[in-house]
Amino acid sequence: MNNQPVILAIDQGTTSTRAILFSATLEILAVQQKELKLHYPHKGWVEQNPEAIWQDTLEVCHAVLEHNVSMVGSVAAIGITNQRETTILWDRKTGKPVYPAIVWQDRRTDIGCEQLKAQGYEPMVTARTGLLFDPYFSATKIAWILDNVEGVRSRAMRGELAFGTVDCYLLWHLTGGKVHATDVTNAARTLLFNIVEQKWDADLLTLFNIPETILPEVRDNAARFGMTDRILFGRGIPIGGMAGDQHAALIGQRCFRPGMVKSTYGTGCFALMNIGSDFKPSQHRLLTTPAYRLNGKMVYAIEGSIFIAGAAIQWLRDELEFFQEVAASDALALSVPDSNEVYFVPAFTGLGAPYWRPDVRGMISGLSRDTTRVHIVRAALEAQGYQTRDLMAAIEEDGGHHAEIIRVDGGLVANKFMCQFLADILNKPVEVPKITEATALGAAILAGLTVDLFADLEVTGCYWQRDKIYTPTITETERERLYAGWKAAVQSLLHASR
Ligand code: G3P
Repeated sequence: MNNQPVILAIDQGTTSTRAILFSATLEILAVQQKELKLHYPHKGWVEQNPEAIWQDTLEVCHAVLEHNVSMVGSVAAIGITNQRETTILWDRKTGKPVYPAIVWQDRRTDIGCEQLKAQGYEPMVTARTGLLFDPYFSATKIAWILDNVEGVRSRAMRGELAFGTVDCYLLWHLTGGKVHATDVTNAARTLLFNIVEQKWDADLLTLFNIPETILPEVRDNAARFGMTDRILFGRGIPIGGMAGDQHAALIGQRCFRPGMVKSTYGTGCFALMNIGSDFKPSQHRLLTTPAYRLNGKMVYAIEGSIFIAGAAIQWLRDELEFFQEVAASDALALSVPDSNEVYFVPAFTGLGAPYWRPDVRGMISGLSRDTTRVHIVRAALEAQGYQTRDLMAAIEEDGGHHAEIIRVDGGLVANKFMCQFLADILNKPVEVPKITEATALGAAILAGLTVDLFADLEVTGCYWQRDKIYTPTITETERERLYAGWKAAVQSLLHASR
């Protein structure tokens, strides 16, 4: 096996960092994972330690490469995929971050976004970036660091600092500080990258008061990003692929044709439809985003972004101590016939698409004397279906395609109840692939493309295999009754918070 080429995928997510070794036929050979801490210094603030992100990445890479016999010599290429939007500024000389990473879920720039919206800039920003004003994206986080951390703006103006999302920060460290680059999918989440002209947008840099000196170079998703510093793995390994985690999952799920949809249930849930090579701004407050760019050719996607999915189940485990393992939530949900009219709106960090209300917070409604913890668990899982349904019709209208089927992935799809409920509430078949690590798989495919393990994206399609398919089982009346209850719960939350 040692002579066969393998691909190392780094998947740096919000709550964990993973290194996965794939064979050249895209089977998983080994996985190593480390949990990553989130810090909440103030209400609505979410930060991480960038140095821990880098050290964890190195640790899991070493562990996966040495786990059986040393595989270092067999690694043909590395692919990187990552939590998107999370913002890091560091010193180009020392590599030291000037402030903690401001995580995508952080809401501290909420008011600044409202002000920009009130000034009427949003249509221009949407037409260029496909995004909306929300603290979710990087631009206002970068501006916050420049404005609030002493000396940082002047250091940035002197060209001493670099900005990057997590992909870019890891690349910089992996190459020993030699390469400051990102890819189109990550650049597109900053609010500074014009996805139509495919370049950093000077007007947007002025709008957010961000100096161009800090920005990385933007490349295709499959590209020669650089070689790893020899000191790290004893030899230089090419870094050949890079994509934000949701775009990587779209590739991992082989959604290469317009109209194909994947939905990933990790910390949050992100549903993307491939819409082909024409940019179309959303008419329903969803996002337009690059699906991928290969050989300079862009393919776009429509995205619905839900901020809390698996994180709600972790919260029930860690904070309410309802169960010890997330997996237990499946049997608990199935032990009752329904949620007893309980609705759980997991707006812990505001609501994303299609509501975009960073100011609201979570709610559990419909509690009565006979409500048990099991009803709350079931309601939290059902919320994933309702949140996805909130997006689906809009994705189909914006994308101009009817989605015949939804391909799902991410940790939460091991939950059979959740997948069945999703099929029921969407009234669509839900397909689960054999490899649910679609994010890492997408990064591996991109890296493999660069070093010619695959001739093109399409050929990797033959390795995609379905594990399960869930088909709708409930009546139309029941479906609409349940969904009306969810809509009423969300509306009461939105009105109460105004
Ligand atoms: O946009 C945020 C997203 O990339 C985070 O993904 O997998 O950590 O929920 P995840």
